Amino acid sequence: MKESYITTAIPYVNGNPHLGHAMDYLLADTLRRYMMSMGYNVRLQAGTDEHGSKIFKKAAELGIPTQEFVDQNAKKFQDFIHSLGAEYTDFVRTTDADHERRCQAIWTKLSDHIYKDSYEGWYCEGCESFVTDKEYEDNSGVCPDHKKPYTKLSEENYYLRISDFKENIRKAIESDELKITPTFRKKEFLNLLKDMPDVSISRPKEQVEWGVAVPGDEAQVMYVWIDALANYITVLGYPDKDISDSWPAHTQVVGKDILRFHAGIWPAMLMGLGLPLPHNLLAHGFITVNGEKMSKSIGNVVDPQEILAKHGLTPFRYYFLRHASTTDDSDFTWDKYEASYNELANDLGNLIQRLATLCKKNDVTVDYKFVEPAFDHDFRARMDKYEFNFAFDILWEEIGKLNKHIDAEKPWALAKTDPEKAKKVLADTVVRLLTVNDYLKLFLPDTAEQISDIFTGTIEPPATPLFPKN
Ligand code: MSP
Repeated sequence: MKESYITTAIPYVNGNPHLGHAMDYLLADTLRRYMMSMGYNVRLQAGTDEHGSKIFKKAAELGIPTQEFVDQNAKKFQDFIHSLGAEYTDFVRTTDADHERRCQAIWTKLSDHIYKDSYEGWYCEGCESFVTDKEYEDNSGVCPDHKKPYTKLSEENYYLRISDFKENIRKAIESDELKITPTFRKKEFLNLLKDMPDVSISRPKEQVEWGVAVPGDEAQVMYVWIDALANYITVLGYPDKDISDSWPAHTQVVGKDILRFHAGIWPAMLMGLGLPLPHNLLAHGFITVNGEKMSKSIGNVVDPQEILAKHGLTPFRYYFLRHASTTDDSDFTWDKYEASYNELANDLGNLIQRLATLCKKNDVTVDYKFVEPAFDHDFRARMDKYEFNFAFDILWEEIGKLNKHIDAEKPWALAKTDPEKAKKVLADTVVRLLTVNDYLKLFLPDTAEQISDIFTGTIEPPATPLFPKN
């Protein structure tokens, strides 16, 4: 069987899962279902990024031992992924003993490209990263993501010599050997790469004690990004096991803010290890709320559990996979969410209800076999470009056509004048619906299963509508 590996970014566990984290999982899960529908055996990794000073400090603030704190939060992320109807095959925690040991082996393998130096520069504690003087100036000394002033930090650290790989990284990205989607982010990153300095990959232990020890240097721990990025291969068993069945990944899904680490440091690490680069990096946009970045200080953070609790999973997946763009920022408001729910109820919910009711009344049964529909080509073209929301639009157009078809054919009237024709119209419509449903299951698996149950064998309309009106 053909193997395919998809990865998701591993979130920091200093807080609860939030709405933004959902995008990684929904997109990766949709791609997983798409690849599976094409006969691939898909491995999907998820995990948690559990080291670093932010997590250490948060646990201390709460008065909980750090390990206990990360244990609790890792569990919340696993539950969160399941609550989104997403499935992973592998879950990695960066505090796993296997991960830590493998990370140290990776460090040792990279030692030809690592050197020690002292550095003074502007640092953002939120990003756990230094910024260039230019970024410092452009942002007027305040991190735009964390709204906190940068601090001057001087440290003796280990560095990964990015310059050893820069030219090859540039070539790989330019030629799409490592394909970055969307293209505007590829361009943005290629610009950034030009001035990308060597990166610091360790911290003095007295600064950050919650981390993986640097092999052969008691005084230093690995900087979270090296430890975090390594997860994509340590989870497969690297370097203890041959990972060539799964690696290189088909697609690595990340948010736009962390593309630079995945397109810069990560390829450098892989090249240093003599491993191939992933085929695709998908950088998705951010979810904003009422047009603003979600932030605790603004007080506009929406809890995904609250949204899920409102109408259940399908409306959640429908909103974030159809009305949120795969590649650009997308906004959430409760008004838009309600409008999207009503659309789901009116377009799909009503179609199912009235079609099943008419079928039952007229004793229609259907022998359904998948036949490739005309929209398949356009649908795949969108999916292959990671334009999942546009692919979803194509299915919605088909659903609209089915509603119009019933309105135009009026099978309830036909049943009185030409019952055979009425039956045929209804059966054909069911076949068309089941065909759309075979695609819908990539986005709305639970509802697709219900639809297939309703229209297989004796057709029975659901006792309560799938999407009841409020
Ligand atoms: N720990 C790092 C990732 C390491 S991957 C080797 C990290 N964690 S995070 O918790 O800050 O972010 C996890 C994922 O959620 C990232 O892909 C990030 O881009 C995404 N998002 C965080 N906030 C988001 C939104 N508001 N909207 C969409 N995605 C967002 O970065």
